[in-house]
Amino acid sequence: MEYDFLFIGKSAADKALRAEMRSIMNILSPSILSADFWKLGEDIKAVEGAGVPWLHVDVMDGLFVPSISYGMPVLKAVRPHTDMFLDVHLMIEKPERYVEEFAACGADLVNFHLEATEDVKGCIDKIRATGKKVGITIKPATPAEAVEPYLELVDMVLVMTVEPGFGGQKLIPECLNKVAVIRKMITDRGLATDLEVDGGINLDNVALALDAGANVIVAGSAVFKDDIAANAKAFLAKMQ
Ligand code: DX5
Ligand code: ZN
Repeated sequence: MEYDFLFIGKSAADKALRAEMRSIMNILSPSILSADFWKLGEDIKAVEGAGVPWLHVDVMDGLFVPSISYGMPVLKAVRPHTDMFLDVHLMIEKPERYVEEFAACGADLVNFHLEATEDVKGCIDKIRATGKKVGITIKPATPAEAVEPYLELVDMVLVMTVEPGFGGQKLIPECLNKVAVIRKMITDRGLATDLEVDGGINLDNVALALDAGANVIVAGSAVFKDDIAANAKAFLAKMQ
């Protein structure tokens, strides 16, 4: 399969860019959206025991996205039982209403969608003031350039690789081109911003996402099925 991001080619500058991308730490962030909520604690311990550093918490409000998931009480319940970095992905309208509360409930990083607010800068500032890390997210139809004005202000950019709202969808490959564009923006500015992908990532395509320049990988349905620890370990092995 050919992807445009292969524009990072064979020149010396391109090789340096690849080397730089490789030296960035890769992180797995399994999404509990696909966990079994009857035994959520057990499922979380399975990924933690496998050596996974982050946990991705998807919050949906039924407005910004068609579905409703879970919110503060679940985050609050999980927080005291794990040292994993809690990566909270808010898929909610006007996230500025709730970012402080999510920080107080135990998020290590609060991530919101650019499309969900008219006050991106204000929302970034509110999260920053809590002392937690800040993430911004774009949907598949939002161009890579939309994140450019905020790159210096955030710790992570999340590029959705499916339409947000549901787990278990198929990766939209064109979104990986945006990952490559944003990785170049980050590198050109000498920033250490993390670049996350979310949606439809599995063991067969995770290498494509890493090659495009992502260093934080969300995986829901590919981790929370069958032998969870074995799935997580297989991802970690592919991501070294
Ligand atoms: C989708 C969520 C994702 C989802 C990923 O709106 O943001 O985090 O759980 O699930 P998979 O990996 O199954 O696509
Ligand atoms: Zn997510």
